[in-house]
Amino acid sequence: MTGGRVLQLLKEGTAPQHEAVERRFDLNNRLRDTHTYTALLGRLYGFYQPLEAALGRVTGYEDLGLHLHERRKVAWLVSDLTALGCVPDSFPTCAHVPEIDSLGPAFGSMYVVEGASLGGRHISKLVAQRLGLTPDRGCSFFASYRDRIGPMWDAFRAALVRFAGTPSAEQQVVTAAVQTFESLDRWLARDEGVS
Ligand code: HEM
Repeated sequence: MTGGRVLQLLKEGTAPQHEAVERRFDLNNRLRDTHTYTALLGRLYGFYQPLEAALGRVTGYEDLGLHLHERRKVAWLVSDLTALGCVPDSFPTCAHVPEIDSLGPAFGSMYVVEGASLGGRHISKLVAQRLGLTPDRGCSFFASYRDRIGPMWDAFRAALVRFAGTPSAEQQVVTAAVQTFESLDRWLARDEGVS
């Protein structure tokens, strides 16, 4: 992608944090039964809910070709938790999501949650194999955009490149992405013994 220096900076700059979160997901453990999988979804709901609300308070996405309403993920978590017999709001909410007061931090946080759809492809297959849950029942969050994951990721990256055309914008985005990964990691760490 032309002018995509920010994409490389993000990938390299968050590689250790991605690895840490991947380890923290500990799929072998968390996908061992429906109960532990549901606990993971509840934990993610407690993080995504305030994060998405904060993203929704920022304006200016449309000018960059990004439509936030197409990218909401909380509704998928609500649908999965409900299908699994849980009340989403019974799970605790994270009080320490990164502060998002403008487009720079917003793009950094969105990089993390949009990129998660790539790993989600792999996770949703595992969930189907191990727990028999499908995108239509209990696994819509990890299936995310389903057969549109590639195009949605490309469109996000194009908007990000449009936004991050200066070193200071690049820096804001990378800093926020690192903070978002770290904040999620800390939030998941508090829930390690999900059994
Ligand atoms: C066990 C859990 C996870 C696995 C196995 C995993 C796996 C992957 C894989 C295979 C890719 C590259 C896909 C591709 O290039 O086509 C990827 C990219 C990515 N993942 Fe994950 N992931 C996991 C969890 C997460 C989580 C929880 C987040 C954030 C909430 C996340 C954020 C990202 C981002 C931002 C990218 C894009 C990297 C880039 O190309 O710039 N991942 N992941």
